[in-house]
Amino acid sequence: MSSLRHVAIIMDGNGRWAEAHGVPRAEGHRQGSLQVETVLDAAGKLGIKYVTLYAFSTENWKRSPAEVLALMKLLEQFSTERLPRMMEKNIRLRVIGRITDIPLFARQKLLEAVEKTSKNDGNVLTLALSYGGRAEIVDAVNRILAEKNDGKITEESFRNYLYAPDIPDPDLLIRTSGELRLSNFLLWELAYSEIYVTDVLWPDFGEEELKKAVEAFNRRDRRFGGRTK
Ligand code: IPE
Ligand code: IPE
Ligand code: MG
Repeated sequence: MSSLRHVAIIMDGNGRWAEAHGVPRAEGHRQGSLQVETVLDAAGKLGIKYVTLYAFSTENWKRSPAEVLALMKLLEQFSTERLPRMMEKNIRLRVIGRITDIPLFARQKLLEAVEKTSKNDGNVLTLALSYGGRAEIVDAVNRILAEKNDGKITEESFRNYLYAPDIPDPDLLIRTSGELRLSNFLLWELAYSEIYVTDVLWPDFGEEELKKAVEAFNRRDRRFGGRTK
């Protein structure tokens, strides 16, 4: 098996997919949410233990109330409808982000699924919700200040204040739909991740596309600033 333990994905392009199919944006998001299970299954087959999905950014609150509500409803639906399958497949669901921003109706179901799957020890699906990389760093700093820590902070000790310190950094970042930017995703954790961008829109991203990304990753020479030869 390759050294690919953790894949993080910026699931972008639901809006463009909807436009291309002449359907409302919400339908693009619905199609996008259906892809999650497909990609999760494919990741499982490829031996990838951790999958982290950027589902809603701190900046996405700027979208129209109708679009935000449609996304929150999808989150609620995902949390309830996918729970039995996650239990069956021994998948643990986790969340990172400013979760208290999520409206209660969706947050309750989400946290229920997190709790019910918390003992599962198979693959880990982490949803980034109301997530921002800068927010994560600022939240970490505020927790450090609140502890009145008089000692020094190191890279290792700082990590303990991040949202999910026990999850290894992503080996591979995938962004669908072609944009060449991070859009405030995992700023700390992506420091040495390999980056793969595809023009394929998220609702069209399936097993074959994930395989292509993993093949590209396997051809990379990760040096971490050192020299291998
Ligand atoms: C990604 O799709 C989903 C979220 C950001 C929630 P977009 O809605 O950003 O799709 P595009 O970028 O408009 O195509
Ligand atoms: C990033 O996509 C956020 C998610 C996929 C949840 P956006 O569509 O919000 O990013 P920008 O606006 O193109 O940078
Ligand atoms: Mg987008």
